[in-house]
Amino acid sequence: MYAAFRSIGAYVPPKVLSNNDLTKMVDTSDEWITKRTGIKERHIAEDETTSDMGVKAATKALKRTAIDKSEIDLIVCATISPDYFCMPSTATIIADKLGLPNVMAFDISAACTGFIYALSIAKAYIEAGIKKNVLIIGAERLSKIIDYSDRATCILFGDGAGAAIISATDNKKEAILDIHTGSDGSYAELLMTPNGGSGSAHDSIRAESAGVFMQMRGNETFKIAVKTLTSDVKDILAKNSIKASEISHFIPHQANYRIIKAVGDVLEMTEEQVVLTVAKYGNTSSASIPMAINDIYESKKLQPNEMMLLDAFGGGLTWGSALVPFSPK
Ligand code: UT7
Repeated sequence: MYAAFRSIGAYVPPKVLSNNDLTKMVDTSDEWITKRTGIKERHIAEDETTSDMGVKAATKALKRTAIDKSEIDLIVCATISPDYFCMPSTATIIADKLGLPNVMAFDISAACTGFIYALSIAKAYIEAGIKKNVLIIGAERLSKIIDYSDRATCILFGDGAGAAIISATDNKKEAILDIHTGSDGSYAELLMTPNGGSGSAHDSIRAESAGVFMQMRGNETFKIAVKTLTSDVKDILAKNSIKASEISHFIPHQANYRIIKAVGDVLEMTEEQVVLTVAKYGNTSSASIPMAINDIYESKKLQPNEMMLLDAFGGGLTWGSALVPFSPK
């Protein structure tokens, strides 16, 4: 059995937080944010939870496929902003809201690489013959873990969700070709929420609320991101004897326009190949890649059999890349 990428869906909450809005909250400017990140605005959830957004993205993905909801036998949700700390998982809440109460469902935590990790889990379960139709979701309400007095992080992140359906096929041409994944926990402190867990300096999550917000050493993260993403993408292309020019859509994690440009330039990708949504959504962590795939799907740029190259990097540190033909059914 092979695993095929069948369907995509995404959801963004309606409220927009522009760069100009942020200038009223922290010492920053539209010019600085635009020049250093490419971001113009991001969307912020008001009363929707991560699972609410995940359900909306999943419902769209389900509508766009002949696979019936009742055929879904695994749900994996990648998120760093789950509905609840520790438990229950956001995936089980999504399963319940979708009306799939008995399905195997769990969350994974791989920050911005979460969608690629979830894709590799779906592929493995399908190729092992254990599951047939896997719903993978990247959903984030990052605004809940952002400190809106910290200009180093609050200008970057937004909320949203994306979902995909990965199904078993015996047609090799439809199959996800390859997925690379990696991590390096020695860089854990570059991007973290320091309090609230068992490694926290405080006994209670209530003891020091500030430490439950995300902190990032952006410049160091930036440099490692460019280096790692470039080498990882070069490796997966070489291993599969595919030239960058054969990729229809290069869909990187949307963290920063400068990172995407640097990696795209090294690979000699054309503007048409590189998918960019960072200006309108900011960095939505695990949701950013499926939201970007959904964007090209909805604008009719993504056609059946076209090869997508996915590429992500995030807290952990974690990274991953994937060669995925679009095989709708
Ligand atoms: O998604 C997961 C992985 N995350 C990433 O890959 C993010 C990687 N990092 C980045 O995208 C960039 O490092 C940032 C956009 C976060 C920052 O850009 P940078 O070019 O690395 O800036 P910097 O941190 O080196 O800061 C340059 C200057 C500093 O001032 P001084 O020390 O030069 O006077 C900062 O204090 O910019 C200042 N600065 C700001 N100024 C206006 C930092 N944030 C802001 C801000 N507005 N929001």
